[in-house]
Amino acid sequence: MCGIVAYIGPREAYPVIMKGLKRLEYRGYDSAGVALLDKHNLRVFKKQGRVAVLEESIIGEDLHAHAGIGHTRWATHGEPSDRNAHPHLSASGRLAMIHNGIIENYAQLKTELTKKGYHFKSDTDTEVLLNFIEDIQENNQCSLEESLRIALKRVTGAYVIVLLDRNHPDTLIAARKGSPLVIGIGKGEHFLASDASPIIEYTKEVVYVNDYELAIIKCDELILKNLGNEKITPFVQKLDLELTAIEKGGYDHFMLKEIFEQPDTIFDCLRGRLDAAKGTITMAGVQNNLDKLSQAKRIIMVACGTSWHAGLIAEYIFEEICRIPVEVEYASEFRYRNPVIHPGDVIIAISQSGETADTIVAIEKAKEQGAFIFGVVNVVGSSIARISDAGAYTHAGPEIGVASTKAFTAQLVVLILIALKIAHEKQTLSDERYMMLLSELHAIPEKVKELLHSSRHIRKLAEKYKGVSDALYLGRGNNFPVALEGALKLKEISYIHAEGYPAAEMKHGPIALVDEQLPVVFAAPKSVYHEKLISNIQEIKARKGMVLAVISEGDDVIAKMADDIMTVPLTDELISPLLSVIPLQLFACYLGMAKGFDVDKPRNLAKSVTVE
Ligand code: F6R
Repeated sequence: MCGIVAYIGPREAYPVIMKGLKRLEYRGYDSAGVALLDKHNLRVFKKQGRVAVLEESIIGEDLHAHAGIGHTRWATHGEPSDRNAHPHLSASGRLAMIHNGIIENYAQLKTELTKKGYHFKSDTDTEVLLNFIEDIQENNQCSLEESLRIALKRVTGAYVIVLLDRNHPDTLIAARKGSPLVIGIGKGEHFLASDASPIIEYTKEVVYVNDYELAIIKCDELILKNLGNEKITPFVQKLDLELTAIEKGGYDHFMLKEIFEQPDTIFDCLRGRLDAAKGTITMAGVQNNLDKLSQAKRIIMVACGTSWHAGLIAEYIFEEICRIPVEVEYASEFRYRNPVIHPGDVIIAISQSGETADTIVAIEKAKEQGAFIFGVVNVVGSSIARISDAGAYTHAGPEIGVASTKAFTAQLVVLILIALKIAHEKQTLSDERYMMLLSELHAIPEKVKELLHSSRHIRKLAEKYKGVSDALYLGRGNNFPVALEGALKLKEISYIHAEGYPAAEMKHGPIALVDEQLPVVFAAPKSVYHEKLISNIQEIKARKGMVLAVISEGDDVIAKMADDIMTVPLTDELISPLLSVIPLQLFACYLGMAKGFDVDKPRNLAKSVTVE
């Protein structure tokens, strides 16, 4: 969380930074700020609220500078306010700093500094770290770079920081541990950002900074060092990202655009991998490790949020066709639980951003115990992609709406491909069913396109249900996690309280909630559970609940019983979540829009959760 942007070079820094912050707003939008440095003249402007609020508030100010840093905040230490907004200034006013992450031992450092007479203007851990750096520099009469190195050896937690020094307007200094930092290399200029989106229109040459690295950046020089002051050769990569991928392309909201992109993203995810006619799946990361994967004694899926739901669906699929026991763990619980990991266990880490702090630490813990880590990640070059032993990218393209949609279906596609490949290798799936599933998978992009034609109908349903205060989402088998995902989408986008439950579990408690006010949403595409689901729907109707069901085309039985339906094309039930989740994404999105909310930036959330 939190987005950072910095620039040094011949351009005006302010417009570069503001444009970049707007692209990174998905990472946090509690406050925004910018520090501009020109010929020893250091100015800081910051404001609670969105980047546009900051922009508005500084019209008419002197914004001329060729070096600057900017920040959009997701609050951790200290409420969202002007004074807690970044950049922070050091006690002397000489240094300005932006920070993404959490300094865990900030309280101890603050006590030490307070005893020395320091006063703090904000409640943030960032201001503490900044003054700690300045204090070291003053006491040791050393360079800023050296004092930063000393400070970081004492710091626990996660950070990307970027510093401006009023006395050195030709230099930016940055450091990273646990939060992402990309440096764009232009001609006589450098761009820094939390991801590549603020950089792509200026350059495609980038360096992904690694943990425990420091960057000393001038207009035409980039020096990377480790904390031991040894130089590291920057690994320059070419960005494979187009500007159009991060623009709204005619849609009012990124979330809507991303939902509608799913025929393409699923196609892209399958392209070059699936050959349904030949019966082949080509995935280098899987192929090169097929022994480890197919002989796994156990697979542990580690993820958070929506990615965790993808893991839950995969659990059904892997167990069904690969006959390998699967556990699905919240990364945040797994990392602290001293989990038992045996040789032969495989960890599949699932993450859109590849930067989720809990997932990163869970992987590191499992790695320490000798587990093999396979990453299913969307963001190319992200931390999880880099620390995994092997992996497969989901190729969904940049996902900017805070709520995950197209990345989720792409995760499912990758997980299904891996499961099919393993099952084929292990011969736990008949050749006939294998070929049939490949051909069903091949047809999914077209079927998604077809179901999206019913978006108008779903929009009307959203209007109808926008006044409800609660909702219950139910499903069985691999559509139970779809119910969880539908409920999560509704909660985060429309702020309506929603719970997901296995449909059969309803009678053990949640049924007490059912009355004529409560919509109960069933994820009920055709499956072996069809009759059981019909009984569950009867139970809801008998208690006057409203039933809204996602069903397969031609399912006249549920269509007659339900108050409202959303239909999806028929497919094999093993992969049916790829279709059944999409009406629920649309329903949540339209409902949020109907209530007038900013569906791309739901309150209190941020896209990339880089704090624990
Ligand atoms: C919900 C959502 C979050 C993320 C979660 C994990 O719509 O987007 O629940 O799924 O924060 O993020 P990644 O996948 O980036 O690790």
